[in-house]
Amino acid sequence: MARTGKVTVVGAGFYGSTTAQRLAEYDVFDEVVLTDIVEGKPEGLALDMNQSRPIEGFETKVVGQTTGADGEGYQAVAGSDIVVITAGLPRKPGMSRMDLIETNAKIVRSVAENVARHAPHSVVIVVSNPLDEMTALAQLATGFPTERVIGQAGMLDTARFSYFVAEALAVPVGSVKTLTLGSHGDTMVPIPSRCTVDGRPLTDLLPPEKVEELVQRTRNGGAEVVALLKTGSAYYAPSAAAARMALAVAEDSGAVLPVCAWVDGEYGISGVYLGVEASIGKGGVKKVVETELTESERAALLEAAEAVRAKQADVQSL
Ligand code: NAI
Ligand code: 2OP
Repeated sequence: MARTGKVTVVGAGFYGSTTAQRLAEYDVFDEVVLTDIVEGKPEGLALDMNQSRPIEGFETKVVGQTTGADGEGYQAVAGSDIVVITAGLPRKPGMSRMDLIETNAKIVRSVAENVARHAPHSVVIVVSNPLDEMTALAQLATGFPTERVIGQAGMLDTARFSYFVAEALAVPVGSVKTLTLGSHGDTMVPIPSRCTVDGRPLTDLLPPEKVEELVQRTRNGGAEVVALLKTGSAYYAPSAAAARMALAVAEDSGAVLPVCAWVDGEYGISGVYLGVEASIGKGGVKKVVETELTESERAALLEAAEAVRAKQADVQSL
């Protein structure tokens, strides 16, 4: 089997390392590079992952590289087709994603500048929080066209919603389709009108108060995990989402996925990074795909757009 392409994961913490492992285990890439500023951490994790290759049976090489404050080590990123930015602090119990904005903006800006220098043709997938703002900042700092910078959140939030529905109805997760739009924060917009179980509308299967309970649990999905872990945040479902986005880019699949993308007129909204569905391929976002919404869902999406627009303006100076 021919393996092609190079993907880099910046940040070798829980999110980054599990993403690198998933990408390598797909066995479709020639090389997965994992970087971090903690001396030896990416090299050690890469060595460990490479030693799992004979057991798991994949040939994709994993390369670990420590990077320095002035961009030392970024040569390893050169030629990457895709770069996933996971660098940044996770939240602690009681913190909102927005509490991370100042610290993570500094990290994401410097990472993005180095990515632009060394992998100028890459598609960038941002996951660092607060997600919508860090995606906007990465686009500014790279100077890449907006379609080449995407954020991961909607796939995760949607997966959480689907899991909660499957659990409530005791059905296989594969029979459930859900959707969340808006921000990866307080103005997340789960879309019950687009949710089905084996093709049947969710709203026919559960009473409104139960649907609302699942919507609230989805909005609180990240915080629920943080509160249980006490230190750090979720990474198994998040890394699955980021890795699948990278795969859609690598395979030029055109898959329609909920992602954080630049909207330019869709839903009557322009000039902001927002959680929407988009077709994903080689150049990043091929097209933002509009879906039918109820009046209240549309109003919530407009509200989300204005909330993240204000914050995305703030990050320009951070
Ligand atoms: P972590 O603390 O395990 O790892 C973060 C890593 O980033 C650390 O290894 C740290 O050394 C590294 N790092 C810091 N500055 C760096 C730099 N300049 N260059 C390279 N590496 C650098 O945190 P975790 O769990 O991996 O989370 C990472 C980020 O992802 C957090 O901001 C978290 O909030 C976010 N997140 C986003 C989700 C989403 O759906 N968008 C879901 C889960 C987490
Ligand atoms: C999550 O939703 C913390 O954004 C992270 O799990």
